Amino acid sequence: MKNADSADNEGLLVRRIKNGTVIDHIDGGEALNVVKILGITGTTQEALSIATNVQSRHMGRKDIVKLTNRELSKEEVDRIALISPRATINIIRNFKVFEKKGVEIPTLIEGIVRCPNPGCISNTNEPITSKFDVLPKGLHCRYCDWVITKDLTSHIL
Ligand SMILES: Nc1ncnc2c1ncn2[C@@H]1O[C@H](COP(=O)(O)OP(=O)(O)OP(=O)(O)O)[C@@H](O)[C@H]1O
Ligand SMILES: [Mg+2]
Ligand SMILES: [Zn+2]
Repeated sequence: MKNADSADNEGLLVRRIKNGTVIDHIDGGEALNVVKILGITGTTQEALSIATNVQSRHMGRKDIVKLTNRELSKEEVDRIALISPRATINIIRNFKVFEKKGVEIPTLIEGIVRCPNPGCISNTNEPITSKFDVLPKGLHCRYCDWVITKDLTSHIL
């Protein structure tokens, strides 16, 4: 028997895809931030579907993002861990789950996050990409020592 969390049931919400990636077990409400972190905007040519606040046995509510014909790099996957450490990445090939992997919190984040310090060199016209070390206390800017301790998603570029 398939459980309530199975592909068959979720198929009612989101169509099955032939090849691509399913990002599952995203914290409820974070799907749009996951999409943002992957650099997908209204102007990119990606076929994606999003289900938000789906009932999950293990998480209460979860979000799911499905990307057609796209597999994610390790770097992209690990960024997702910053906002959804329980996310799982399912690579779909020929309609089947070909590979399933978790996400790992990266030690360094380049780009993606903007330093909140207006005086930081990464916010000037210099061609400098932001760099943050991921520390227990938060994200530490390598250029100006600012630490982002909360509401990370509001700092995503
Ligand atoms: N062909 C497909 N198209 C779209 N989504 C799919 C497809 N195959 C699986 N999925 C989705 O991928 C996720 C993982 O599928 P799987 O069959 O491994 O479910 P599961 O056993 O509930 O996995 P888990 O133990 O990780 O929760 C589910 O959200 C499922 O709906
Ligand atoms: Mg499941
Ligand atoms: Zn800075």
